[in-house]
Amino acid sequence: MSDIKFFDKVVIVTGAGGGLGRAYALEFAKRGARVVVNDLGGSGAGEGASSSAADQVVAEIKAFGGDAVANYDSVEFGEKIVQTAIDNFGRVDILVNNAGILRDSSFTKMSDTDWELIYKVHVDGAYKLTKAAWPYMVNQGFGRVIFTTSAAGIYGNFGQANYSSAKSALLGLGKTLAIEGARKNVHVNVIAPIAGSRLTETIWGEEILKATSPDYVVPLVVKLCAEENKDTGGVYEVGASWFAKVRVERSEGYAFGVDKDVSAEDVASKWDDICDFSNAAPAESIVSTFNAVGKMVGIDLLAAKK
Ligand SMILES: NC(=O)c1ccc[n+]([C@@H]2O[C@H](COP(=O)([O-])OP(=O)(O)OC[C@H]3O[C@@H](n4cnc5c(N)ncnc54)[C@H](O)[C@@H]3O)[C@@H](O)[C@H]2O)c1
Repeated sequence: MSDIKFFDKVVIVTGAGGGLGRAYALEFAKRGARVVVNDLGGSGAGEGASSSAADQVVAEIKAFGGDAVANYDSVEFGEKIVQTAIDNFGRVDILVNNAGILRDSSFTKMSDTDWELIYKVHVDGAYKLTKAAWPYMVNQGFGRVIFTTSAAGIYGNFGQANYSSAKSALLGLGKTLAIEGARKNVHVNVIAPIAGSRLTETIWGEEILKATSPDYVVPLVVKLCAEENKDTGGVYEVGASWFAKVRVERSEGYAFGVDKDVSAEDVASKWDDICDFSNAAPAESIVSTFNAVGKMVGIDLLAAKK
């Protein structure tokens, strides 16, 4: 395979002042992209702000002859970050929605602020950036968007009700935008990284932090943002040099037939069949849901329009 280059591309990386975002920004710049290095420069819990994190990464990029500009806005004001790309480079081709914070707490103890701040950064932030960049991508017939979910967003995790539900929202957003962008060559993928960073350095020791360097996540993001990449709507888990794709599976289920009423006791009596995955199949789209109903019940939901 030929080298992946981004010579004519403008890339926005949010939260690029440290951790994963910094690693993405450096690699895109090394491969020829002009990069908007966005970072609010606050704490891991979303408090405070500073321009130094973004400035430092821009300086690193310039030191090896790359081209980058800093932006210090919170992703909540995503349109300003996209405007920075337009004002400085005249276009936007690739958007890596990466900025993130944690405000972990058991659901019992979670405050409204913990909930709202997580939504503002992860959901509203990714929405605002993508909404502002989308028309440019659609009009130019090229775009690559990455959303950053988490294993917590896919599977749930104790103490992360706010974070996991926000990260889960990005799965839905990514899947839908992949469908809407497909015909315009705007490809959207979702990654669930595992990386040693300030968000994880309090839970992992030195050895694990080294093994989970952000550098092991970068190759997936570069591959998915390449012009050659045709994959869209995927969800990938990545970290420590491991790369994998996640999909949803559906049991065959059990249908009683629509010619009679169905009670809770009926459902309980067929519970083992309903939850039996021995004839499971990938569940990849709404059409596959309609097809499953068609197969099991004999009605065609796709033809059901009045
Ligand atoms: N590290 C992991 O193992 C892991 C696991 C799953 C998901 N993630 C996700 O990966 C992304 C990157 O995390 P990381 O581990 O590199 O953490 P990090 O704290 O090193 O980097 C996140 C960056 O985002 C910036 N940021 C925070 N709020 C911002 C805002 N409102 N506007 C602009 N910038 C903001 C921070 O200043 C920081 O530099 C996050 O979305 C995180 O939730 C990380």
